[in-house]
Amino acid sequence: MEFDVEYVRRQFPALERSIDGHPAAYLDGPGGTQVPRRVVDAVAGYLIDHNANTHGVFATSEESDAILDHAHHAAADFLGCDADEVSYGANMTTLTLLLAQAVRRELQAGDEILVTQLDHEANRGPWDQLTDHGVVIREAPVDLATCTIDWDALEGLVGERTKVVAVGYASNAVGTVNDVRRAAVAAKRVGALSVIDSVHYALHGPIDVRDIDCDVLLCSAYKFFGPHVGIMYVRRSVSERLRPLKLRAQEDAPPFKWETGTLNHEGMAGAGEAIEFIADLGRHHGAFVEERAPGRLAGLSGRRRDIVAGMIATELYEQPLAQRLIEGLEAIAGVTIYGPPPGHARTSTVSFTVEGWNAQDVARVLGHKGLFVWDGDFYAMRLVELLGLGDRGGLVRVGLAPYNTAAEVERVVAAVAGLAGERRL
Ligand SMILES: Cc1ncc(COP(=O)(O)O)c(C=O)c1O
Repeated sequence: MEFDVEYVRRQFPALERSIDGHPAAYLDGPGGTQVPRRVVDAVAGYLIDHNANTHGVFATSEESDAILDHAHHAAADFLGCDADEVSYGANMTTLTLLLAQAVRRELQAGDEILVTQLDHEANRGPWDQLTDHGVVIREAPVDLATCTIDWDALEGLVGERTKVVAVGYASNAVGTVNDVRRAAVAAKRVGALSVIDSVHYALHGPIDVRDIDCDVLLCSAYKFFGPHVGIMYVRRSVSERLRPLKLRAQEDAPPFKWETGTLNHEGMAGAGEAIEFIADLGRHHGAFVEERAPGRLAGLSGRRRDIVAGMIATELYEQPLAQRLIEGLEAIAGVTIYGPPPGHARTSTVSFTVEGWNAQDVARVLGHKGLFVWDGDFYAMRLVELLGLGDRGGLVRVGLAPYNTAAEVERVVAAVAGLAGERRL
């Protein structure tokens, strides 16, 4: 049995678009995926039929409560935790800023926070803000040849003063998947909090916060078929202990203590539906997953099982496509791929430069052919700076999602091959 890409594609209205006769290929997923019709309907349906504030005793308010409850429960099944450990917010960045301010209340001057050179600014900047209070930031180095974290160095930096270890699950710039369990173990050894940024990884594989044994994990629904809302898991015991910035009007109990003001109800309706879409992918590909990944669903049931199956199906589909993309690009003279070595865990996000070309010019030429790819540093600013690519416009990034096809990958390879002989710098 094969992955049913046509079943997936049929559900995304955006895929019908074309640019100057070229079918649009959405390879910009790491910046935000396209949205299936059922998610659009859930957002619109909320606004048309159920729009109200919460905790009223009339129909639309009660329906709103039920929809927000569903969003919490669906996200809990997505992450492998309980619904009271899931909070919604504007986006991952804003939730991390809130988290950092709560953690600050427990810190003394001289306490340390460990971040990495591989991470997106959203899991660095909020911690950097705490230096105003005397907190010291340590930075785990990246091996630039392989774009992987130097784990021995990371572990060496964790000491008695370390209070937070903040690591990304996967690099949105180059696709490296990190051993986040190892980060959680290192943090636990000294009683520090482990904070995992799963925004990039969440589209590409199943997440299990209990297995990682992390204290906090964040993601953003717009990176996995949903609207623009952020989601944060906080381990119950940690959530009960921490004191986020909040108003008297807000409930003290998790998960509501992290949810300031009136939330984005329609966005949460869509986020819940995006997770139902993934569960449906899992049901549709049940036999495919059982055949290709025997045993990986053992012990799971209900919606959690379907979600994990959906994410494994995605992973099984995307990995060979990414390999083909890498091989195709590697064969082109003047193309340099930045990312982990063969055999290292990675997502299907592939980044590269073309000799003699600024990254933005490459993205523009591809864009005119209907190939939507990102260029720049994607806010993984530290990594791109260390790679010395600032003056070349950073990287060109091709991100695959389960609605992309082998034919789209071939179009990218052909378009880049067409550039490689020319020079634009
Ligand atoms: C790895 C990673 N972390 C964090 C973020 C920030 O997420 P948000 O836009 O929800 O604040 C992004 C967004 O691109 C990302 O790719």
